[in-house]
Amino acid sequence: MIDLRSDTATRPTDGMRAAIAAAEVGDEQRREDPTVNELQERAATLLGQERALFVPTATMANQIALKLHARPGDVLVAERHAHIVIYEYGGAAVHAGLMIEPIAGEGGRFGVDELHAATEPSTKGADQRAAVLALENTHNSSGGRCWPLEELESLLAAARERGLATHLDGARLFNAAVATGVPASAIGGLFDTVTVCLSKGLGCPLGALLAGSEKTIERAWREKHLFGGALRQAGIVAAAGVYALENHLDRLADDHARARRLGDAWHAAGLPVEPDRVETNFVQLDVGVLGLGRDEVLARLRQGGVGLSSTIHPTVVRAVTHLDLGDDDIDRAIELVPHVLGARVAA
Ligand SMILES: Cc1ncc(COP(=O)(O)O)c(C=O)c1O
Repeated sequence: MIDLRSDTATRPTDGMRAAIAAAEVGDEQRREDPTVNELQERAATLLGQERALFVPTATMANQIALKLHARPGDVLVAERHAHIVIYEYGGAAVHAGLMIEPIAGEGGRFGVDELHAATEPSTKGADQRAAVLALENTHNSSGGRCWPLEELESLLAAARERGLATHLDGARLFNAAVATGVPASAIGGLFDTVTVCLSKGLGCPLGALLAGSEKTIERAWREKHLFGGALRQAGIVAAAGVYALENHLDRLADDHARARRLGDAWHAAGLPVEPDRVETNFVQLDVGVLGLGRDEVLARLRQGGVGLSSTIHPTVVRAVTHLDLGDDDIDRAIELVPHVLGARVAA
């Protein structure tokens, strides 16, 4: 099967496996794992922050950040389809005790007016406050869309004026950086904390980082331990991260070019794709207009040898390009998908 379901499908390359095998390791809980330490230092620099902390997943990084920025009963402001809102099992409420003020965005983005409306101080004088703004870049549910830098700057300035801490769920921040030509450090450095994921476009088997100021990350170590995320010889995994930061950042442009090629070709073949919305490595198809149910579409495609996946939007399916797919796979998917869906429409 040509697996376009997610960029989490990647398996370590031979080069990455060699780096894993050769990793120097130590006790990470004691901060003695040299490879974890190296990964954290490199990541902090790349993300425009003083320090970074290695964690097993981006979900854990996000959840730690929320605990650091708010007290139970505070309000988290986020786009309503953000991963932190819809895909983290209510962790914001469970772990940090936060209420969520969801904002309806466009392409995952919203502006200062929406932020102001969502953070209007309570008229009842209650000591209840909007404490943290979390943004997502690229925004998963809208199809890997990016925030322009100027929009981020004005929104974050407005958030700071209202006393909110700011967190970036940058699980795919490097995709945004490559697509917009703005260094990840220039984007990440705008926020109080930044999550980045190693197990998506960067091709690692697992791992993520949370970056922030020296003081913030010192507090994050404790939260990581509380989540059961303090590790031992984690350099075995961190070595994959160091390798990926050296070898897999620039090549994200290949994934983006392949997604654009898929989007353009499917659009030309009459499929419901909006090529303008393909900004990074996602292509979304709104199959509702084909008169087909989403599950039927996915099942037929899978039978035809192509894996796509569902999204939060009931009629929208997506294809995601990644390190394990080459130009031949894209050529085949360009042929197969219109054929499978077209055959169904004509039947
Ligand atoms: C935007 C975003 N944030 C966070 C995550 C969580 O990543 P993990 O699976 O490493 O917890 C994902 C995973 O898909 C994501 O897309």
